[in-house]
Amino acid sequence: MKKPLDECTFVIFGATGNLARIKLMPALYHLDEAGLLPDHMKILRVGRREDNREEWLDELRTDISDKARGGLNEAVFSAFISRVDYQQTNLNDAESFQALSDYLTQEHLSSNIAFYFSLPPFLYADVANQLGQTGLLNEDNGWRRIVVEKPFGSDLNSARDLQQQFDKHLVENQIYRIDHYLGKETVQNLQVFRFANLLLEPLWNHNYIDHVQITHAETIGIESRGSYYDEAGALRDMIQSHLLQLLSLVAMEPPVSMKAEDLRDEKVKLLRSITPLTDETVVTDTFRAQYTAGKVGGEGATGYLQEEGIPDGSQTETYAALKLQINNWRWRHVPFYLRTGKRLAEKKSMIAICFRYPPKQFFKTVQFDDLKPNWLLIGIQPDENLRMEITVKKPGLEMETQVMSLNTCINNENKKDAYEGLLLDVIEGDHSLFLRSDEVEQSWKIVDPILRHWEKQKADVSSSITTYRAGSWGPKDAQKLFKKEGQDWRFSLHPDQAEE
Ligand code: BG6
Repeated sequence: MKKPLDECTFVIFGATGNLARIKLMPALYHLDEAGLLPDHMKILRVGRREDNREEWLDELRTDISDKARGGLNEAVFSAFISRVDYQQTNLNDAESFQALSDYLTQEHLSSNIAFYFSLPPFLYADVANQLGQTGLLNEDNGWRRIVVEKPFGSDLNSARDLQQQFDKHLVENQIYRIDHYLGKETVQNLQVFRFANLLLEPLWNHNYIDHVQITHAETIGIESRGSYYDEAGALRDMIQSHLLQLLSLVAMEPPVSMKAEDLRDEKVKLLRSITPLTDETVVTDTFRAQYTAGKVGGEGATGYLQEEGIPDGSQTETYAALKLQINNWRWRHVPFYLRTGKRLAEKKSMIAICFRYPPKQFFKTVQFDDLKPNWLLIGIQPDENLRMEITVKKPGLEMETQVMSLNTCINNENKKDAYEGLLLDVIEGDHSLFLRSDEVEQSWKIVDPILRHWEKQKADVSSSITTYRAGSWGPKDAQKLFKKEGQDWRFSLHPDQAEE
């Protein structure tokens, strides 16, 4: 039987920001509705705005109504808000933190506290310092945890600097570095799929797999995050975190157990086996581009350079693709292709595994010009499914073939948001779906050489970034990463895929 959850206070810094409003509060509401929160847990929202209870309650009602599955349940909402309070806090001011500490250490509140930094990353070190100096990270009297969103640093050095700041007040197991992709149902299913089905393991290696593609395509642009995004770009925003996590789950060795440290050890080992790109391979094995105006889902979409907060002539990539090689026994010579883009034709995240061609000689006496490799497709969103494409004979007298698929749809009516499970894990103290510091470092080591090369390209006024039309499947030239004849990006979960 699971041990009951510890009572605690859940503090959200940046409570009036987008993430807290769109994701965190609705997730906590849903957990409460499911009866999963500790009975007396309190939620303290912390922000810069003045405390006007009536106003923020109205806002909270709207935010939660917008997301509540099956509509807002008044009884649940009214019980939920009795947990919630607000505290105005100036993050640069020690007195404000003292007031926060006075609030949190009131006798009737639990001495276990989780602090969620739903803040711009440049504030992480300062807020950890302020909390440390007020003694709020001291675990003498109960647990103290912090949750930070990606990006953790903006390159290897800055990630190390940030870690050093954290080290002054925190030990590793107090830190929960969140990657919401690890909270997604199909991403977790990937582990079950790999390690609970014996039939896959013998095939899961370079003898049978030709290459792997991991795609994250979005129809949305940068929304109101211009200043963040222009600094970050697609490589930092998606690949350094979410896509490298997906890659490590697909490719890692079976962990000793599903315990957090065993799982994270295997992911780190895998990331360490990735061959770092050199000046030469960055040129041949990476690709970046930026969207121009177009139409997405029939509606006009502005170009990246016309988006709010984007400086004239910005060369920041909104599309990034790369090819990585894993230098270990299992994956030698099996390229892993990663790509992500904003304002693409469809919202789709999937992992596509292409098996090798069977030996054609077997069919040499029959007409056979259409032999296709098997594909295993793992849809992450919006479709959550597993699909195996196999070649079968077409009914009839001729020896003709066709591709058919075995499809398991794991779409779940009652789909939970990734944050629900992750927030519960923080309260439970389970790190399995959070990144360890060496994992973050290792991911930056993979991405850093690309960042350095791309920075040089951006600074070169004689070169300009490739563009693609909003609503397309991205620049055609991204195909250059494939070296084999006939290979290309897989656009769809369906065999008869079509581009644009
Ligand atoms: C975030 C990125 O981490 O992930 C966003 O900062 C991106 O730019 C988002 O849109 C994608 O998440 P999801 O769950 O919608 O695929």
